[in-house]
Amino acid sequence: MEKIIQQLEKTVAKIFHSESSGHDINHLKRVLNLALTIQKKEGGDKIVIGVSAFLHDIHRVMQKELGKFVSPKDSLPKIKEILETIEITEEQKEKILHCVEFHEEYGFSTEGKTVNDIETLVVQDADNLDAIGALGVARTFAYSGAHQIPMWIPEIPFDRKFYTEEKHDPSTIHHFYSKLFRLKENMNTATAKKMAENRHAYMENFLEEFFAEWNGEK
Ligand SMILES: [Fe+2]
Ligand SMILES: [Fe+2]
Repeated sequence: MEKIIQQLEKTVAKIFHSESSGHDINHLKRVLNLALTIQKKEGGDKIVIGVSAFLHDIHRVMQKELGKFVSPKDSLPKIKEILETIEITEEQKEKILHCVEFHEEYGFSTEGKTVNDIETLVVQDADNLDAIGALGVARTFAYSGAHQIPMWIPEIPFDRKFYTEEKHDPSTIHHFYSKLFRLKENMNTATAKKMAENRHAYMENFLEEFFAEWNGEK
């Protein structure tokens, strides 16, 4: 596993060298580590999970380069090319493409979840864990800064019933309610559900403090 990641690292570092808005190579490394922690308890093909985690967000770089929405599915030709450089089975390659394609499914989006293979479920959980907690707070503000999204607009109600990555929330604080606070319940595996608890509570505390300070209460 380590050898394969080492082999991939150069290519991935090259692709992500200009990315600094929260989907950088360190996000990939954290998701890889989280995915392996979950895999240890929940099972699934370690190589498929590890490689998928490390390659899952190439669509984000393509999106930045093209200046328009790029879905994970659109990144599959590029992933296929990268997979040709490592020695794994054809079956594993197919599974990795599947994991990447479906890593951004949410129970609270209009389509809901459609997959149930353990590898994709673990990668989804790992990616979603890195979106919450202290890191979630940091990444959300970094992303908003890079995309000119305001910090908070109190006048706009929280009315986003269904979430989609295609449309930005009106403010960073809105994003906590449309996506981040929904992720704990959205975790697939028991291991990730447990890991999400602390991170979720941390964000609740953060927002409590944020609003108190915003309103001049302390
Ligand atoms: Fe993604
Ligand atoms: Fe991600």
